[in-house]
Amino acid sequence: MAKKQDQIIGDSPAFLDLMDQISRAAPLDRPMLVIGERGTGKELIAARLHYLSNRWNKAFQKMNCAALAETLLESELFGYEPGAFTGARNRRAGRFEAADEGSLFLDEIGTMSMSAQEKLLRVIEYGEFERVGGTDTITVDVRVIGATNIDLPAAANAGEFRHDLLDRLAFDVITVPPLRERREDIMLLAEHFGMAMARELEWLVFPGFSKKATEAMMDYHWPGNVRELKNVVERAIYRAWDGEQPVCDIIFDPFESPFRPPVKTNRKQVAASPTPGPIQGEAKTIDKSPDGPFDLREEVAAFEKKLYEHAMEENRFNQRAAAPYAGLSYDQLRHGLKKHELL
Ligand SMILES: Nc1ncnc2c1ncn2[C@@H]1O[C@H](COP(=O)(O)OP(=O)(O)OP(=O)(O)O)[C@@H](O)[C@H]1O
Ligand SMILES: [Mg+2]
Repeated sequence: MAKKQDQIIGDSPAFLDLMDQISRAAPLDRPMLVIGERGTGKELIAARLHYLSNRWNKAFQKMNCAALAETLLESELFGYEPGAFTGARNRRAGRFEAADEGSLFLDEIGTMSMSAQEKLLRVIEYGEFERVGGTDTITVDVRVIGATNIDLPAAANAGEFRHDLLDRLAFDVITVPPLRERREDIMLLAEHFGMAMARELEWLVFPGFSKKATEAMMDYHWPGNVRELKNVVERAIYRAWDGEQPVCDIIFDPFESPFRPPVKTNRKQVAASPTPGPIQGEAKTIDKSPDGPFDLREEVAAFEKKLYEHAMEENRFNQRAAAPYAGLSYDQLRHGLKKHELL
């Protein structure tokens, strides 16, 4: 069974819809495709599809297709016969045989070679394949669950993924919403990971997060989704140390430091020069003086807006990070963003 720490947490409408779709899809003996950004929980969802199916007490095999070179992937999936390649002394069963009567989770399925895709199509359609270097046809009954974070139809149109395999795999497609599209889940997950970390550190109680920390997490756009949230929370908690005050320092970027070696670009120009130069292409017009008469306040406001946008972009739209970047307090930054209708 799934381990306790593999619980799927969430109660946003988007998350509940997703759980509904999974419960309906799980008992069907059909291939499934799970699509979503990195760190959204695709692997947890694949496990749930297996454990809620009639195959729950049979094998659940997992294979990351990007982890192995083309030929190795084929022998890992389909097994091999002695002499199939140098070093293949004994016969070896592959993942499909190991997953017989159960499910096989193929992660990063978009990276599979064309020849492995061809074999995969046949095994999905007829349950048949040959081991690498073998001639006997092996028959298995395996439910395939694929996952990817690339656009498979686009890959198929570009000739990188077989259309026929995509049609077979995509009996139903489960698309996992990114965390920023289900903000109600952020603090629920943060508390969950926070409590687990506090237990690991043997704190007597978990004091929760301060208002400032909560706001910072709610404002952030989480490009790495739940995996990133888990890391950020665990880092905040172990650094908070005493387990008595609510956790208030949230560090989104562990590389952030005043001693960080400078990046070799001219991105610091804006902050460094007293008369700000062009902001990396985008704001080229604002460093030259207007041609004729002008409205100083309008020009200054336009320039100011560009600088706010720039600070936000440079800090991945994290307001807590953008404020010191622009030499402002958090409240000043929010005020400015509102003024320029950037919120
Ligand atoms: N809803 C959730 N509840 C609890 N934990 C979650 C949830 N979603 C994801 N996680 C946790 O986040 C981490 C990343 O999840 P997972 O490995 O399933 O993501 P993924 O979509 O497969 O990412 P990648 O595309 O990078 O492989 C794991 O530690 C997982 O346990
Ligand atoms: Mg994964």
